[in-house]
Amino acid sequence: MRWMAVAAAFLAAAGSARAETCDRQAFEHCQACHALTKDAGQKPGPQLVAVIGRPVAGDPAFDYSPVLQEARAKGEVWTKDKLDLYLSDPQAVYAGTWMGSPPIRDAKQRADILCVLGGR
Ligand code: HEC
Repeated sequence: MRWMAVAAAFLAAAGSARAETCDRQAFEHCQACHALTKDAGQKPGPQLVAVIGRPVAGDPAFDYSPVLQEARAKGEVWTKDKLDLYLSDPQAVYAGTWMGSPPIRDAKQRADILCVLGGR
């Protein structure tokens, strides 16, 4: 019976480790276009350093679409909720956005991505 106690302790430890770290795999396909550091060189999309709480169209080195520039001019900011919506359907939030990535319908996948973006 001792092995069961050991297995239970192991499972408990594995479970808590999972709760604390983000599933970085969810962000993998974003990385083709986005960097999470300021010095990652030129990518097809803006860098996303500390994007949660940052003004929309907030990478000064990136030439944004008119709709995102307009949002910045209005003082809009990326909240977690707005980002969640944008990832679930970019065109529904900012019609005409140049982000050509497909909508992410899976809420768990969006939560993992938000975890990576917020995990500084
Ligand atoms: C094919 C390239 C591409 C992929 C893949 C992509 N993006 Fe983008 N993303 C862009 C472009 C281009 C923009 C700028 C859009 C505009 O100007 O309208 C953008 C804009 C954004 C913005 C707004 C940034 C700001 O400064 O306002 C966020 C947030 C974002 N993307 C997150 C993601 C996430 C998270 C993923 C992965 C699920 C992803 N993107 C996948 C190209 C991409």
